[in-house]
Amino acid sequence: MKIAVVGLGFVGTTSLLGFAHLGMDVIGVEKNDKKLTGFKKGKIPFFDKDLQEKFSKSDNLDFLSSISEIDSDIRDILVCVETPLIKSSLDLSVVKKALYEICETRKGMNIWLRSTLDDPNEINKLNKIVINSNNKLFLFPEFMREANCWKDFLNPAFTILAGNDVENTNFYNELVKHFNVHQCNYAEAITVKISSNAFHALKVTFANELQYLKYKDQIDIKKVMKIFCSDTKLNISSKYLFPGEPYSGPCLKKDTLALSSMLSEDIRESSILKQIDISNEKQIDLIIKKIENSKYSTIGFYGLEFKEGSGDIRNSYLIRLIKRINGKEIHIFDDSITNEELSKVLESKFHIEESLNDLIENTDVIFTKFSTKFDTNKELIALDSL
Ligand SMILES: NC(=O)c1ccc[n+]([C@@H]2O[C@H](COP(=O)([O-])OP(=O)(O)OC[C@H]3O[C@@H](n4cnc5c(N)ncnc54)[C@H](O)[C@@H]3O)[C@@H](O)[C@H]2O)c1
Repeated sequence: MKIAVVGLGFVGTTSLLGFAHLGMDVIGVEKNDKKLTGFKKGKIPFFDKDLQEKFSKSDNLDFLSSISEIDSDIRDILVCVETPLIKSSLDLSVVKKALYEICETRKGMNIWLRSTLDDPNEINKLNKIVINSNNKLFLFPEFMREANCWKDFLNPAFTILAGNDVENTNFYNELVKHFNVHQCNYAEAITVKISSNAFHALKVTFANELQYLKYKDQIDIKKVMKIFCSDTKLNISSKYLFPGEPYSGPCLKKDTLALSSMLSEDIRESSILKQIDISNEKQIDLIIKKIENSKYSTIGFYGLEFKEGSGDIRNSYLIRLIKRINGKEIHIFDDSITNEELSKVLESKFHIEESLNDLIENTDVIFTKFSTKFDTNKELIALDSL
């Protein structure tokens, strides 16, 4: 298979050498004369020992200075040009220029965009232009790390492809021979890419903030984090990473606030640790707004415990949420705690029902985290879907 790679920075050079290594004939397109001359003389334009070594040994590569020179028998073009950060969003002007150039001169191309992108609406607009010129646009984001490009190319964290009918392309069928491919839409591909890096940044900042604990002199933070990371059940796992309700229960809020209060004053106000609970409370406010704006006037809540089977409503965010809702008649039933206990925690303005049937009977809608338990025609709204 023959492909072209446009833009030979870290991503383009790695793609060029990587796909050549996998047996493809690859043509590199680089508009910068100095870089192009370097390639022609056998030198990649940046320091990377593995890539330089691979380049010195490769023989199925060719180089061009512009998109217009790409051979007419090539059907797949990987675009790896820069998308610099301007203020806090990405500048797509170089990507657009490269795509327009392809679309003005070619038809029947599969364009694989490897550059990092942020706004799916912009990509949808670009896709219309690409389709109108009888070409196809796919996203193929890159997850490699500088200085680890070669290893990450051969063994990527994941391989994501986005775009209609991607599985009917030859390039897709080549890729699945080597990599485990996830298919998704443009917006999902963009989200996985930029949220992965944001998550890495969050981990770095979280760990670094722990160096500013007031009692830091009493701990070996590297030892602490080594123990912390040995928990692959909760700490280093997919646990807690699927969006749903705000956190609740007796421990997460308490310990998060306790930890942030132990940070030195130099960093506490700007810290992520302090922001965690502020963000969680904001999410509760947003759920309240959605409930207040719903069309229903008589609403029910089933199940207030913070976790199914715990029977524990201490610090359940639902208690705070219910107390803060305005303009609705609220009915409640919870079979895991006594009505006496519920009345103690809630005030008399709420209707505490004797049974689930009464709750169903007396309300227009029921908000619950346990929607699978219900066998009713009543409208149910899962709290983790709000
Ligand atoms: N650097 C990384 O490790 C990394 C990792 C993952 C994703 N990314 C993303 O990949 C993209 C590329 O990153 P990079 O670091 O390789 O960029 P880079 O700036 O090092 O390289 C881009 C190259 O494209 C060339 N170029 C631009 N327009 C061209 C055109 N029309 N024709 C031919 N050549 C053209 C430029 O001259 C430049 O050499 C960015 O969106 C970046 O955010 C980078």
